[in-house]
This record gives sequence, structure tokens and C-alpha cells, in this order.
Amino acid sequence: MTKEYVELIYQGKTYKFPVILGTEGEKAFDISNLRQSTGGLITMDPGFANTGSCCSSITYMNGEKGILKYRGIPIEQLAKYSSFKETGYLLVNGALPTRKELNRFSVLLNDQSLVHEDMHTFFQNFPRGSHPMGILSSMVNALRGFYPELQTLEEEINITVTRLLSKIRTLAAMSYKISRGYSVVYPRPDLSYCANFLNMMFDNVVKPYHIDKDVVRALNVFWILHADHEQNCSTSAVRMVGSGRVNLYAAISAGIAALWGPLHGGANQAVIEMLAEIVERGDSVKTIIKKAKDKNDPYRLMGFGHRVYKTYDPRAKIMKEMCDKVLAKLDIHDSLLDIAKELEEVALNDDYFIERNLYPNVDFYSGIILRAIGIPTNMFTVMFAIGRLPGWIAQWKESMDGPNWKLQRPRQIFIGPPEKEYIPIDERK
Ligand code: ACO
Repeated sequence: MTKEYVELIYQGKTYKFPVILGTEGEKAFDISNLRQSTGGLITMDPGFANTGSCCSSITYMNGEKGILKYRGIPIEQLAKYSSFKETGYLLVNGALPTRKELNRFSVLLNDQSLVHEDMHTFFQNFPRGSHPMGILSSMVNALRGFYPELQTLEEEINITVTRLLSKIRTLAAMSYKISRGYSVVYPRPDLSYCANFLNMMFDNVVKPYHIDKDVVRALNVFWILHADHEQNCSTSAVRMVGSGRVNLYAAISAGIAALWGPLHGGANQAVIEMLAEIVERGDSVKTIIKKAKDKNDPYRLMGFGHRVYKTYDPRAKIMKEMCDKVLAKLDIHDSLLDIAKELEEVALNDDYFIERNLYPNVDFYSGIILRAIGIPTNMFTVMFAIGRLPGWIAQWKESMDGPNWKLQRPRQIFIGPPEKEYIPIDERK
């Protein structure tokens, strides 16, 4: 709290609301007693663009300056020096691990990497063509049935958290293998988190998978960049569903479902589909930009724009550099990258995009990296979900531990009909 307050004058009376100050100078005024003190007044903010749902010490982002930090550490430093496993530990536990803590974390992740054999049957029974995000969300929710509740909250948090972090990559790789009709590859304790995932995805009896250290590094960076992003749509879903005190699996399953949407995590798939369509139809970049600007056309430039970033998304900057490196290393020329770069250049010089502060977001270049390392397009959002998992867990943990825990339940202003009489069915016209 600060000494400042905001005054509201309503029906001739003045009400005062204290101002809260964040570490980086962000300010909010606390209206938690607004309804009681004003006799029923609430605020209206569809999309919550001006509403803080919590105070959090996990991630700081500044959309105007393009800053992103996890637990105070800039994303650029984490992308350069850290691993996904270490960043996951940082987010969930609040501080970077010592070597001993990181080793212990690795042992726990290895211990938890296998999934119950009975889960294979589940996978096999999803209709062919089911989207992997729907499968992943269902399988994560189903984990509770296979791993019932533990005795204490502490046990629940420690074991369930590592179990989820480890099993999610096994589940994701299994869903890919089974959807293709291939045999499942089991996790190997001698491999690192990212190498293990790549091996489970691509190793097969005919052609053993060669683990390339640059590809492993690219995957580490991809997941680090996705690991948390404060109160976005899927994280808010995790916090909201978790506030009803459901188990962690159910809360994460809700987060995966929310992430699936093309306006959120599903944008990485949508970007590749958009770029592929441009190449296939031979559309010019000018035509696409014109279409994206047309108010009578719902078409949007996927991978562009962000609710919070009003400048270049710092993750997109790193992703773009990584994209060039990976393609050069693997000696791949991807025409989609050429189109993406051309679209970016034209959009960033176009008044429509300039006036609305529309810049490339994290999804604009990420799909090209994923394509280069062999991930199929319909698995892109699953890749995002694996990356976002430590953030969801950290946010869930903070919301459950915090002194201000409350069931999340917004209000509304009712605009439907006033009271009406019930009409029996035969008398209705
Ligand atoms: N292409 C064309 N126009 C756009 C785009 C776009 N990608 N994004 C926003 N606009 C325009 C809107 O039409 C609107 O114009 P208007 O003021 O003339 O009506 C203006 O910019 C503001 O857009 P809103 O939709 O009000 O902004 P909001 O903050 O609600 O939307 C969102 C953010 C959903 C990300 C939007 O920019 C979008 O749809 N982008 C494409 C999808 C995408 O890339 N999503 C991934 C986001 S990152 C993530 O979730 C991981």
C-alpha cells in the first residue's frame, strides 16, 4: 500500500480507495470493498484489460518497454545461460537452484518420467484425427485417476508438480507416436529433459535418432521463452479453476484447454497455416496485409499483436534470431521464413499496424523453428503447453499459498428481460 488513494464521487458521496504499488512502479487502486461501501456498485471491464486479479511475485512484464523477467531475471539472460529445467525450477520454487538442488530435481523428474501402462489404452481409443491439445488436456485430467490424492498438501505439491513436469513430455510424445501408429519410445534416464523429449518423439527402430546439441539448445530456449507470462488467458484459467480447490491436474487441464485457442497459444499453429496458405495460393504480401486491415473481413495477421505488448515482444526477438541459427545449422531453406520476414517488414511500415502498436508476438517465428526440428504442425500448441507448464504450476501454487486466496467469482450486470410468467407449452405461440 502507498499513502495515495483514489477518490470516487458517486451520488454526491466521496469514497476512497487505497493505491497499491508494485516493485517496478505499477499502480492499482484496491476496490475490494467497493460493492459493500457504495451499496452495490461494481466495475465493468470486459476482457479484464484494466483489472488486476492478484499481486504476484513470479513474472514481471512491461508491454510498453518490451520487458519480461521471471523472478526478477531478464528473459534475455535466461535464454542465453539457463536450461528449461533450471528455469522451471526457478519459476516453481522462487529462486535459482544450487547444483545440489538441480541434481535432486533431475532425479525426481527421472523417477516420474514413465506413465502408467494402462494409459496406452486411453490413447488408442481417441478417434483418429483428434487434435493433440484435446488429447493432452484429457490425459492430464485423467492422471488424477491413475495417481490418486496424496496425504498432505506439501507432499501433493512436491510430488504432483514433478510428476506433471516430467510426464507431460512423455504424454505428448506418446500421443504423437500413437497417432501415427508407431511404437512408443520410453524415456531414458541418461538424457536431459529436452533431449529425452526429442528422442521419445523421433527415435524409432528403423532409424535411431541423432541428438544434435544445437537442436537441444533451440528447444531449451523455445521452452524457456514460453515458461510464464503472468496473468494471460490460460494462466488465469488455471488460477480460476484452481480457486475452486480442484486438484492440480484438473486446473492444468483447464489451462491446456484455454491455451488451445487461436487467439492465444493456438496462434503458433495458425501462423504456419497462414504462411503455408500464402505460399500455396501464391498471394502477395500486399494482398495479405490489405486483407488483415479490412474491417469487413475477419482475417487477422496471425502472430501479430498482443494484449499487453505494445512494442516488439522480447520473446519474438530471441525467437527470430534462434530461427535463423537453427535453419542455418540444419541447412534448411524454408520459404515460409522468407514470407514471414517480408510480412513483418511491410506490416511494421504500415500506418494501420503502427497506429495500433501491432508487432510480431512470440508465435510469429516459433512455428518455423518447430517445423525445422521436425515437430508436426498440429503438435505446435502442445509444445507451447509443455513450456508453459512451470508457469501454470508456479501461479497455481502462489494462488493456493497466498494470504489472499479467494474463490474467483466475477459479477455481471444483468441485461436480459425483467421477470416474466412461465407459459405452459401448449399455450405458447
Ligand atoms: N491483424 C490485424 N489487425 C489486428 C490484429 C492482427 N493480428 N490484432 C489486432 N488488430 C487490430 C484490431 O482489429 C483492432 O483494430 P480497431 O481498433 O480498428 O478495431 C486493434 O488492432 C486492437 O485489437 P484488439 O483485438 O482489440 O486487441 P486485443 O488486445 O484484444 O487483442 C490479440 C490481442 C487477440 C492477440 C490480437 O492482436 C490478435 O488477434 N492477434 C492475432 C492472434 C495472435 O497472434 N495471438 C497470439 C497472441 S500471443 C499469445 O497468446 C501467446
